[in-house]
This record gives sequence, C-alpha cells and structure tokens, in this order.
Amino acid sequence: MHGVPPSLSARVVGSFAYLTVRDRLPTILTKVVDTIHRNKNKFFEEYGEVGIQAEKQAISLLSKLRNELQTDKPVLALTDGLPDTDSWNQYLERQQRLQGDQEPVSWFKSPWLYVECYMYRRIHEALLLNPPISDFDVFNEGKTQSFTESSQAVMSLCTYLEGIKNNIDELSKNPLFEHFSKLMQVSLWGNKCDLSISAGQENSQKTSPLDSLYSLLPFILVDDTKRVWSALISAQRPRDSGKNNADRVDIVLDNAGFELVTDLVLADFLVSSGLARQIHFHGKSIPWFVSDVTANDFQWTIRQAMATNHKWVSKCGVQWQRYLKEGMWCYHDHPFWTQPHEFCDMAADAPDLYTTLQGADLVLFKGDLNYRKLTGDRDWEHTVSFETALRGFGPAPLCSLRTLKANIQVGLQPGQGEKLTSQDPSWMTSGKYAVIQFHNPKSE
Ligand code: F6P
Ligand code: MG
Repeated sequence: MHGVPPSLSARVVGSFAYLTVRDRLPTILTKVVDTIHRNKNKFFEEYGEVGIQAEKQAISLLSKLRNELQTDKPVLALTDGLPDTDSWNQYLERQQRLQGDQEPVSWFKSPWLYVECYMYRRIHEALLLNPPISDFDVFNEGKTQSFTESSQAVMSLCTYLEGIKNNIDELSKNPLFEHFSKLMQVSLWGNKCDLSISAGQENSQKTSPLDSLYSLLPFILVDDTKRVWSALISAQRPRDSGKNNADRVDIVLDNAGFELVTDLVLADFLVSSGLARQIHFHGKSIPWFVSDVTANDFQWTIRQAMATNHKWVSKCGVQWQRYLKEGMWCYHDHPFWTQPHEFCDMAADAPDLYTTLQGADLVLFKGDLNYRKLTGDRDWEHTVSFETALRGFGPAPLCSLRTLKANIQVGLQPGQGEKLTSQDPSWMTSGKYAVIQFHNPKSE
C-alpha cells in the first residue's frame, strides 16, 4: 500500500501551482472584470440604472477577490445561500482541519485544486449577489468565439463522420476500431483548446485535426485505446433491435468550443456504429474554469451546428438534436462537478452521482481538471499506477482523455518521466503531451 502524497500547492514557490495562483488566476480575474465592464451598456439597455448598479457591485466584489488572492488572505465562507453553499463551507472547514490550526486556509498555502475551484465559485457568487445580472456568463464570449474560429476544423470533422456513417453497416470490427481510435484521438487533442491554460486568450483549432493525428502519436505517453475498446466490446448485449451494443457510455465533458464538437462527434459515432445504445453527457451547472461546458453552451453548440450552411455540419446538428429528443443522448449537470473534491470522495460526498455513474459501461473523463480530480491533484511519483492514484474511485470502467497541463502524471514506465524532463522541462504543463489512460475496477 502506498502512502498518499501531499496535494499540489502554491506553497511550493516556482511550481506550476505557484505560477498559476500568482499570475494566471489574477489575469483571469482581470479579464472577468473587463468583460463585465464592457457589457455595461448592454446591462443598462436591459435593466436600466439597476443594471449599472449591479455591474458596479459585481466588479467591486471581484476586485476584492483579486486583492484577497494576491495578498494571500484567508479563504472566506460563501454567503450566497445557493443549495451548494453549505457544502462549500463544510469543505473549507475540512481543509482547515487538515491544515491544522496554526495558519488559516489561504490562496498560497492550501491545496491548489481547492483554491482554484473556489475562485470560480466566488466569481459566480459575485454575479449571483447582483441581480439582475446573476445569470450573466462572464466566459460566454470566449466560448462562442472559440467555436466560431474553429469552423474549418468542425467542417472537416463532421464531413469525416458523415463519410464513416455512410457505410457503417458494412464495416467489420477492424476498420471500426480504426475509426474509433481516430475519433478518440481527435477528442483527446480537442482538449488542447481550453481557454483556462491560455488565461482566456484565443485558443481555437485552425486546421483539420485528422491530418495531424499521425504526427501527434509520439506525444501520447500512455495509450490504452485497445483496453477501452475491449471494455466496450465485452459490454455488448443483444437487443430487440437485433443489434448488440453496450448499454451506456458517459462522457464527463470539459471545454466548450472545438473540444465539445469532438466529443459530440465521438458520441455520434458510438451510437451510430452500434457500439453504445445511449450517451449521458455531464456538464457544469455554473461557468467554470473559463471554457467548461454548461447546459447553455451544450444547446447553443448543437443549435449553431444545425444552423450552419455547411451540409455535413448541419446534418450532424440535426442528428444530435434528434438523439436528445429521442432520449438516446441526455445531458446532466450534477453540482459535484463544480465542487473542489477529489473524485475518491464522490462515493461518500455525492453518492447519488456515484450510483448514476455505476450504471455506465464506460465513463470517459475529458481534460486536465478531471485528471487532477481523478488523481487527487497530488504529488505522485510518475511510476505509481493509475489505479493507486484513483484511491478506490471506480464506479465503472473509466478512461481519462487528457492533455497534460498540470504537474501530475501517473502510470508511466520507470525512467519515462525523467527522460521527458531532460528533453522538455515543461512536458507536464505545455498541453503538448497527452494520455488515454484506462482503469477497469471490474477486472481488478
Ligand atoms: O489552471 C489549472 C488547470 O487545471 C490547468 O492545469 C489547465 O490549464 C486548466 O486548468 C484546465 O484544463 P482543462 O480544461 O483541460 O480541464
Ligand atoms: Mg476546462
């Protein structure tokens, strides 16, 4: 049995956590303030003077937040009385107990995962406390822009998908696996396009993702695609329809924009190829880590796809809407996804969500933040197994599709991490490397 290493924290001066708390988070907060300010006229047109007052109040709360962060003040309890407020405040007490009474929980001294999640919840609070602009998504502009700027890549991906679907019934297992593997990789590299690593700077997909897959293969440090495939195949059950398919694949979504399109394309392929009968998507219930998918982003993206004048993109959009209407696809946003917990706490702290995930034949976790939560955002040795780092989390066979953007990576071969560090010191944080990492709790 391995001991559990400490959480990553900005306490380690010079670490990526430290640089994030010192530089990236204040930059994100400044952008949020600018965005609200830029929308002042819109608030005035919609709500009159009350809108202007709300804009001022929200900006003042956010400036205070930035000051608390930059001067390493204690983390404060939330006051907005949302259904999850108590749970956040209890989590703060839990952190305080873990840290001991010597020093308060604070931005530079406490776990990076916790304080970073808390920042996004405080941004939400600043807006919530200021109706009528409570529903304003400060990250919306960036997310829609990132979708629009990826339009060429979206077109080539949808065209590719429609090409496969045209003769999908004739495909034997081998070519089906090849397409599956390609679309997993497209979804994997789609995770490069998040707006949080770039602190909200434009970060869209300009070229066809399919053209670069081969040259990107050496950057996939762990590739468990074959194991994921076996899990899907072994979950196939005969149906009344005459098809054999797995019952359900869940996708825990990450970013809106191009990444979401890659996930929708993968989901479409899984259903139309008969590999799965249903897809459950899990998104965020509040704006989160700049570009994460909310219900609004999810619906907006599908509507945009339907409305484009590109034949295959709009065909995909119409099909996706139909899947939703017919219940083959559904979207959930459990509050646990926007809390700071390590996923090993899910069974105890969100048992209903854990039970939901247990109903899946496979759960795909997209992106870096989900990887950090899967592995507890801890300072693990690179050779520790994924299973060990999951610390008992395993509601169903699961796979992380993640480009590396934080100082954490497990499940590597002895010497692999050291070699990478000598070749490219920023390998863990540049988003250039990736993993497709699988764990099957049923086979352990
Ligand atoms: O800033 C923290 C962080 O987790 C980074 O490591 C990463 O850049 C980003 O937030 C989230 O990335 P993703 O959208 O892939 O979860
Ligand atoms: Mg994200």
